[in-house]
Amino acid sequence: MRVISTIAEVRAARMAMPMLGLVPTMGFLHPGHLSLVKRAKSECGLVAASIFVNPTQFGPNEDFGRYPRARERDLALLEAEDCDLVFTPDVTEIYPAGFDARIDIGGVTEGLEGAVRPGHFTGVATVVAKLFNIFQPTRAYFGQKDAQQCAVIRKLVRDLDMPLEVVVCETVREVDGLAMSSRNAYLSPAERAKATILIRALRAAAASGDRDAEALRRLMRDTIHTEPLAQLDYVSVADPDTLEELNHLGEGGALLSLAVRVSGTRLIDNLIIP
Ligand code: PAJ
Repeated sequence: MRVISTIAEVRAARMAMPMLGLVPTMGFLHPGHLSLVKRAKSECGLVAASIFVNPTQFGPNEDFGRYPRARERDLALLEAEDCDLVFTPDVTEIYPAGFDARIDIGGVTEGLEGAVRPGHFTGVATVVAKLFNIFQPTRAYFGQKDAQQCAVIRKLVRDLDMPLEVVVCETVREVDGLAMSSRNAYLSPAERAKATILIRALRAAAASGDRDAEALRRLMRDTIHTEPLAQLDYVSVADPDTLEELNHLGEGGALLSLAVRVSGTRLIDNLIIP
């Protein structure tokens, strides 16, 4: 496994790779991230991961400064997955002095996370577009855990005719159903126990079999409200591609998603109803 930190080194390494799977990450890796690396390795043969805590996708009052970092542990985990290349750039390698470009993907960035985190998806789309240009991967792998991010990246690739395939991989969960996330590290043991309220609300709605979107939202809200430590940011029942809120579940199915604060920590999760 090679670990490199400049764009020039990536370009040189890429020349010798016929097919490449790319897994962009912000590090502090867990089995969710590693499932993307495994899938990329099995489908593409050669796999690259990037570890870059991207400052432009964090709001001024968000957790950029305290976002968890564990470089040596991450590298050992990637090595164990037989990852071929790891890109760990400094902020100035990605955003040199004078950098001023922004990619705004429009409609799909506006609701849900985008409404609560202004500018977040502009930062995501911009850094992911740069990573796509730097690596020119055959396929790029993302987790369903961040459903809106997947919609944004699919749209980025479609709208700008980027020559690669986006692969969305299932959310990896703890045994009790909590979606794995680097931010789970912020939870105290007591908060960690309460954090299953997200998946319980999603599963209650999915299991109800109700095709009325407002009934599903109400069921999720009511479930969240049973947990005093949990404060609801939003619940949504939306079209999985456009992310427009639905009235009724039709042929295209629905994306059930929510964001909840458990004490200070903001968690997101989602389920797709076929
Ligand atoms: P990060 O939060 O590190 O996540 C990297 C990738 O891992 C994303 O595609 C995310 O959806 C996926 N992932 C996270 N938790 C997962 C889980 N429990 N199961 C499956 N996949 C999971 O998302 C980002 O970084 C950044 O926004 C990035 C795309 C790297 C751009 O900076």
